[in-house]
Amino acid sequence: MNERLNILLIGSGGREHALAWKIAGSPRCGRLFCAPGNAGIAREAEIVDLDIADHGAVIRFCRDQAVDLVVIGPEAPLVAGIVDDLAAAGIRAFGPTAGAARLEGSKAFTKELCAQFAIPTAAWARFNNAPKAKRHVREFGAPIVVKADGLAAGKGVTVAMTVDEACAAIDDCFEGAFGAAGAEVVIEECLDGEEASLFALCDGRTALLFGTAQDHKRAFDGDTGPNTGGMGAYSPAPVLDQPMVERVMTDIIVPTLAGMAAKGAPFTGILYAGLMLTARGPQLIEYNVRFGDPECQVLMPRLKSDLVELMLAALDGDLLALEAEWSDDCALSVVMAAKGYPGAFEKGTPIGGLDRAEATGALVFHAGTALRDGRLVAAGGRVLDVTALAPTVAGAQAAAYRAVEAIDWPGGFWRRDIGRRAVEREAGRYSLIPPSGNARRTR
Ligand code: AMP
Ligand code: GLY
Repeated sequence: MNERLNILLIGSGGREHALAWKIAGSPRCGRLFCAPGNAGIAREAEIVDLDIADHGAVIRFCRDQAVDLVVIGPEAPLVAGIVDDLAAAGIRAFGPTAGAARLEGSKAFTKELCAQFAIPTAAWARFNNAPKAKRHVREFGAPIVVKADGLAAGKGVTVAMTVDEACAAIDDCFEGAFGAAGAEVVIEECLDGEEASLFALCDGRTALLFGTAQDHKRAFDGDTGPNTGGMGAYSPAPVLDQPMVERVMTDIIVPTLAGMAAKGAPFTGILYAGLMLTARGPQLIEYNVRFGDPECQVLMPRLKSDLVELMLAALDGDLLALEAEWSDDCALSVVMAAKGYPGAFEKGTPIGGLDRAEATGALVFHAGTALRDGRLVAAGGRVLDVTALAPTVAGAQAAAYRAVEAIDWPGGFWRRDIGRRAVEREAGRYSLIPPSGNARRTR
C-alpha cells in the first residue's frame, strides 16, 4: 500500500476545481489544501489564505503542514519560478521550472526553438520598435498576426485583417497596453485552418498523450465578440483523429521535448499545444505550460487513471512505463460568466440552483465564486463551468445545457453554441476538405 500524500494545489479557477475534484478522488491523496481556492474547491480541499506570489510563504506552509506534493494550476507562478524555489527547498512540485516555462512565457523563445528544431509553425519575425514592425507589416500585407511577446493573459494577440489594424496593434503593444509583455512584438504569418489543442504529460524525456480538446475563445455565439480566456470546451477534438495525433506527437511534441532537454531546460508537467490544422499539416500556434481553462474541466472527467500517480511518475521520469486510461465518452463544458466579461463586470450577484443542476448528473466546477453570509455569489469574470459526459458530443451538449438551465443566476451569461462544430461534424454536416484545409459545410 502506497503512502498517502499531503497535496497543495495552487490556483483559484475552474481548472483548479476540476483538478481538486480529481485529486481528492485519488487513493494517494491524504490532506488536500488549495490556495487561494474558491467556494467550489472548498468542498474538495482545505482552503488556505496564502499569497501564492510569495514563494517563501508557500514554502513555510508546506513545511508546517508536511506537504509532500505541490500542484500548480496557472502559468504565472510557473513563469515566476515557483517550481524552482520549491525544489530548492526540497519540496516536490508538479510543473515546469522557470526555464522550461519560457515555452509559454516568451513567444520569441518558442519561435526560436521551432526554428532550431524544425518544428512546424507560422513564419515570424520579432521587433523591439514600432517603425520596424510596421515596415515589416506593410511589406507582407494582411491578414497578419501581431503578438505581444510576454504573458498578456491571452489578450496580447491581434489577428489583423488589414495593415492599418496591424499597425494599431503594434502601437498598442509599444504604448504599454500589455505592460512589460509588449516590450517586444512577434509578427506572424496568418495561418488558415481549424484550431485544436493537444495535451501531453511530460517527464523531461517522454511525452504521454493527455487528451485533446477544442475551446471557444470569443465571448458570444457564432464566434463573435471579444476574445476571452475561453467560454466553453469539449473533448476529444474530433479533428484530431489518430493519424493526426500521431503526426503532432512526432513532428511537434517530441522535438520540443528533445529541444528543451538539449537546451538544459527539460520540460516536466503538462505541455499544451495550441494547433492550427492547415493544408500543409499541423502547425504550432503556441505552447502553454499547464492545463487549459476550461479544457481541464473536460479532460479530468474523462481521465479514468489516477492523476496523482501519473504526476508522480512524471516527476520521477517514469512515464515510459505508464499509460493513461480515458473514457470513450465526450465531455462538454459551458462557461457561465458575469455579464460584461471580458470587460467590466459586477461582483457579488447571487447564484442559485446548483443543487438542481448537479441533480441532472452534470458536474458544476466553480471558477470565480465566493460564499457571502452563507450564499453563493459571483466573484470573478468566468464563474461556473457546467460539464457533462455522454457517448456523443450532441448528447454531452444537451446534458450540459439542461444543467445550465437549472441554474438561477440573473447576473450571468453564457454561449448557447458550445460544441456546435463538433455536433455538426457528428451529424455529417461538416468536414475537412483538402487541399485548402479549411473547414467547410458540405450541405
Ligand atoms: P495565442 O494567444 O497565441 O493562442 O493566440 C490567440 C488566438 O489567435 C489563437 O487561438 C488563434 O485563434 C489566433 N492566432 C494566433 N496565431 C495565429 C496565426 N499565426 N494565424 C492565425 N491565427 C492565429
Ligand atoms: N483556454 C485557453 C487557455 O487556457 O489558455
